[in-house]
Amino acid sequence: MALGVYVHIPFCAERCDYCDFATWTDRGHLIGEYVEACVVDLRRRMTASAPRATSVFFGGGTPSLIPARGLARILEAIEREDVAEVTVECNPDSVDPEQLAIYRAAGVNRLSFGVQSMQEHVLAELGRTHDPAGVEYAVRLARDAGFEHLNLDLIYGSPCESVDDWRRTLDETLALAPDHVSAYALTVEPGTPLGRDVASGGRSAPDDDDQADKYEIADDVLRAAGFDWYEISNWARPGGECRHNLLYWEQGDYLAVGAAAHGHEDGRRWWNVRTPERYIAAIRSAESPEAGEELLDSTTREEEALLLAVRTRGGVPIPKHAEALVTDLIGEGLVEPDADRLILTQRGRLLASDVTTRLLVALSVPASRSAPAAALLVRSSSPLPPSEVALGRLDC
Ligand SMILES: C[S@@+](CC[C@H](N)C(=O)[O-])C[C@H]1O[C@@H](n2cnc3c(N)ncnc32)[C@H](O)[C@@H]1O
Ligand code: SF4
Repeated sequence: MALGVYVHIPFCAERCDYCDFATWTDRGHLIGEYVEACVVDLRRRMTASAPRATSVFFGGGTPSLIPARGLARILEAIEREDVAEVTVECNPDSVDPEQLAIYRAAGVNRLSFGVQSMQEHVLAELGRTHDPAGVEYAVRLARDAGFEHLNLDLIYGSPCESVDDWRRTLDETLALAPDHVSAYALTVEPGTPLGRDVASGGRSAPDDDDQADKYEIADDVLRAAGFDWYEISNWARPGGECRHNLLYWEQGDYLAVGAAAHGHEDGRRWWNVRTPERYIAAIRSAESPEAGEELLDSTTREEEALLLAVRTRGGVPIPKHAEALVTDLIGEGLVEPDADRLILTQRGRLLASDVTTRLLVALSVPASRSAPAAALLVRSSSPLPPSEVALGRLDC
């Protein structure tokens, strides 16, 4: 049985203009206590009878911002299989050789860098603190430290980004030889500096057609370089797929550790208190850090299974009793049959929300049941676990 552990590190050096993740730039003084709280939480949760973790994901925020020995302490507290995948999200300008050596020794075997763009003016517009040379340096350090598995996160569709900028970003990303690339359409989140500027007319919103063109370019360029998509926003070389992410998309079990983290175990979904202060306080007073939970009935689980599967390369079983819809979707070039499954085409991936809605209707999912579906689809470019998206992860 696969078991993931997600550890949320809610600290950043600076907040990027577009980002609404649960993270703070003014709570660095809490890092030491936070690490200890995560360790205590894990010791309580990882009882002797609990299965060993098959994947661990340190997400943020900026996990690479906390001292490497602190991250190693948290990892030590996670009983895991020898072959477990262990990923740490890193900002390109917050890694150094000593830190990466500590990660390696502790068992980290995959790094995910938030590159976003390889064009200086695009990075500046996104409010990033690194430049393209910093990305190249960080990747070189990762290679020198022995990391074979590297993901590079990209964001496309900033208004200042030309199609040539995007092509260059893809080429320069591929030159760094990652085995995994995530590419997300820039999403304007309310409450972020970008969201406020767009709302006040101070900045333009990303253009849907431009983002669709850039998605197609990304897919073509990455495929030509030997990558294949395995989820709408994720491409990997054979064997480079992120096992932890697959767990989310396959409705697997994962523990949530840290502020604002979300977990899932056999139909129970839960989420932790949102701020680091409240998380530390809960753990110190031996209380549960959980802020809420949801028990998923079988209909909801089936519906979510479809919502998630449709976005993956594995696709969904060809629905029975919906021949007309299947014929229409194939005729419109949105899906293609593969044995007994329906897989989104490139065009279908651009219109995944539409395809999903039509499938849900054909399978007679009552409208009221589709509410979480709508939430999932609105944030379809989100890299977060689907549960976090569906539940509105910022509300706890
Ligand atoms: C939680 S961030 C953590 C990564 C790391 N802190 C960094 O930024 O380098 C994970 C990824 O989400 C993506 N992301 C965050 N906000 C986004 C937005 N509004 N639109 C598109 N992608 C976004 C970025 O690609 C980012 O690298
Ligand atoms: S994108 Fe990454 S670095 Fe920027 S604020 Fe969000 S979590 Fe922090």
